[in-house]
Amino acid sequence: MTETPGPSAAAPRLTDSGPTTVSAGVPPERPSAEEHAADVRGPAGSPHEHPAADRHDGEITGVTVRDLRVEYGAPTLGIGTGSPRLSWKIASSDPQWAFDRYEVEVTSDGRTERTIVRSTQQTFVPWPGAPLPSRASARVRVRTGSTSGWTPYSAPAAFEVGLLDASDWRAQFVSPRTLGGLGDGAPLVHGTFSTRGAGPLVAARLYVTAHGLYTFSVNGHPVTPDALTPGWSAYEHRLPYQVYDVTELIESGHNVLSAILGNGWYRGQLVWPGNRSSYGDRLALLAQLELRYADGSSQTVGTDATWRARRSSILFDDFYDGQVTDLRVSDRDPSDRDGVASEPVDVLGAPTERLVAPTAPPVRVTERILARELLSSPSGATIADFGQNVVGWVRVTVRGGVAGSEVVVRHAEVLEHGELGLRPLRSAKVTSRYILSGAAEEELVPTFTFNGFRYAEISGIDNLDVADVEALVLGTDLERVGWFECSDPRVNRLHENVAWSMRGNFLSVPTDCPQRDERLGWTGDIQVFSPTAAYLYDTAGFLSGWLEDLSAEQKPDGAVPFVIPDVLRAPDPVAAAWGDAATVVPTVLHGSYADAGMLSRQYPSMRAWVEKVSSVASPSGLWDSGFQFGDWLDPTAPADDPGKAQADPTVVATAHYARSAKLLGDAAAVIGFTADAEKYRALAERITDAFNFHFVTPSGRVLSDCQTVYALALCWDLIRDPVAYEGASRRLVELVVDAHYRVSTGFVGTPLILDALCRAGNGEAAYRMLTETECPSWLYSVEMGATTIWERWDSMLPDGSINPGEMTSFNHYAYGAVADWLHATVAGLKPLEPGYRRVLIKPQPGGDMTSASTRHDSPFGMIAAQWAIENDAFRLRIEVPYGVTAEVWLPGDESGRDVGIGAHEFSAAWSRQ
Ligand code: BGC
Repeated sequence: MTETPGPSAAAPRLTDSGPTTVSAGVPPERPSAEEHAADVRGPAGSPHEHPAADRHDGEITGVTVRDLRVEYGAPTLGIGTGSPRLSWKIASSDPQWAFDRYEVEVTSDGRTERTIVRSTQQTFVPWPGAPLPSRASARVRVRTGSTSGWTPYSAPAAFEVGLLDASDWRAQFVSPRTLGGLGDGAPLVHGTFSTRGAGPLVAARLYVTAHGLYTFSVNGHPVTPDALTPGWSAYEHRLPYQVYDVTELIESGHNVLSAILGNGWYRGQLVWPGNRSSYGDRLALLAQLELRYADGSSQTVGTDATWRARRSSILFDDFYDGQVTDLRVSDRDPSDRDGVASEPVDVLGAPTERLVAPTAPPVRVTERILARELLSSPSGATIADFGQNVVGWVRVTVRGGVAGSEVVVRHAEVLEHGELGLRPLRSAKVTSRYILSGAAEEELVPTFTFNGFRYAEISGIDNLDVADVEALVLGTDLERVGWFECSDPRVNRLHENVAWSMRGNFLSVPTDCPQRDERLGWTGDIQVFSPTAAYLYDTAGFLSGWLEDLSAEQKPDGAVPFVIPDVLRAPDPVAAAWGDAATVVPTVLHGSYADAGMLSRQYPSMRAWVEKVSSVASPSGLWDSGFQFGDWLDPTAPADDPGKAQADPTVVATAHYARSAKLLGDAAAVIGFTADAEKYRALAERITDAFNFHFVTPSGRVLSDCQTVYALALCWDLIRDPVAYEGASRRLVELVVDAHYRVSTGFVGTPLILDALCRAGNGEAAYRMLTETECPSWLYSVEMGATTIWERWDSMLPDGSINPGEMTSFNHYAYGAVADWLHATVAGLKPLEPGYRRVLIKPQPGGDMTSASTRHDSPFGMIAAQWAIENDAFRLRIEVPYGVTAEVWLPGDESGRDVGIGAHEFSAAWSRQ
């Protein structure tokens, strides 16, 4: 940490031009009265700048700074920057109060520094002092002030910086020398060390990652319940490591460190059956343990040539196929005492430059669900039903099992004719086998695999008790921030299904599906779902990290791989709606969380994508060549040809091209690249001209005349002429009425269709479509008992048989993008300015719905909107946190009104037309 003048040299001062810092080698305390006075008076020479200074009487009551976050909030141990940004919320009972300055107090390395900055920013504010070095720990508090005084300090946020430099890694990747072939099961690598005996241990930190997955133990005790670590990312460029506080697990004297390595994404099957070793064929561990003693000395031990490897209890592991575990083998004590031979390891010269600290929480068990019942299938199998399609593990408790006997657990999302519906899983065997040890009680739960399932067939246990079977729900441990409810329970179930599909598919990376032999980070899926995702869960760090992977794997000419991490490795991947994740996801994240740093970082990637599309588009402005996924999974496409949509692929591609050029221009404007802003907005105009010229008739017919093309044209303002716009609006409604309100869109049109109907002036048609139950419709699956969003509108046919298509997942979030319309239009809440600084609250009631509500815990705090139709009156109650202005419209209003912090109620006369 850099030294700055002590308190006698300078009290904290308020500046306009930037932060001023004081530091003191003393524990944190409130600045003295003199300091306060100095704070509010402003820099010397500006005595009149804050005339209220004299009235200052210390602490403001009724206003508190809360939820102070460092970078993305989690993890807090091992942050990947020495200059983390800070964010906080403010709870205030005083609607008039506003802060114009904040003070950050940082305590690190025994010193306390306070910095006052004149600013009203409270999200992602810059780190106030010199960057912290690797390993530094710090405690931060923030208070905000105005001429009338300061709030109390927030509760402190503590964090620790990770290893910022490749040279911080002294440990080396080690890999079993001969064991660890695919047939050998998961190797256990282990090493020992002795504490130095230089006085009591103060802290021990484990920095750890692997080629493959790892579970790590110190003296036989697991260091964490985190699962599937280190997680998945673009490993060749960015390999995440974790940091654990293991102080309590270290013993004075001799210690044993051990890790079991699983195949996971690194070496297990990925993409298609039998395709293994996407990243390499040798599993390896990198672990560095750093100990600090009370006398100030330190000790670093880590993986090196002295480590050894042996077999573990895990005989086989694979994401698609499952796990085989021999419970007779103990992994707790890796010494050779039990007769299991060990062998030396090889030190791999693997580089440490690509090691990165994650910006998202790890995968964890986020919920446990007891089996609802045990069913007996027609073939006599015992099947546990969890009542909910989930992603994770089945855990079975066995009592009095016979040593050497085998228990087998197989998973499926649905039943067909009373038996597990395994066909949608394609080649994935989804089977976990356990060889029992014969202990009085044994817990059967896998480690290095995961499944998507509602049902589990369990064999090998006599008299299985339903209370002994539970589902452990796995996923990235994101914080829920968005909720929705309305008077229609079927729509509520639909919304719950969306949240469940998100939970299941936000597992380290955003995936298409979690169950079959696929589970990949398809860019098109997250492109359409990102607005919903960002509303339901705090995805700021998760998707920001994924975007870093996208940038890293984007081709030099700007092409965006179809999946990120890119295990497909297509040489020239260019497809509309999929590649547009490069422009759309950063835009959505910036709108939701006001993370301007992320937008600046992604800007080159956004621009490269638009430039790539420009290079393949024709001079006329149409994107009319090359491969397209198009309106993927349009319900009229044949089951075996999901790309054969009604929407012309050129129309779909050109619409995306125009939109991405526009989003790029807007992003350029946000980050101050004015020339680019003009250039790409003008490009968007030219493409829109071409769209009109080639695809739109004067009366508003849009080429290929199907729901999706009108949805694109209306939602993205692609029709120039008002008469044509009117005509297109009428035509869309006609098409929807002719389809008896059934959905006729695929991945591209589905997120837009209800919004398009509203733009066409027919919100009632949108409500009719939302509540339609005949297939294809959202509520068809709900009425069929779905508990997640299906990949196909008819993944299950009305007679209960599974769609014959080769791709039939029951847990695919893409069609769940409709939840964005529930939040933004039914409940009526959407951001107008980044981070919800300004929001629109404009509910549009319709259909038979009599009430709806939503809450979103925005970067500024909880925003709530709740409406109900009661006795010919429409009543709206809203809550607005400090820092947010809401523009509120009631149905029928000609204009909105602005309201600020607090709870507000509105009502208007209501009669159903
Ligand atoms: C995936 C989709 C993905 C698509 C692209 C499928 O196999 O499940 O969700 O976007 O391929 O074609």
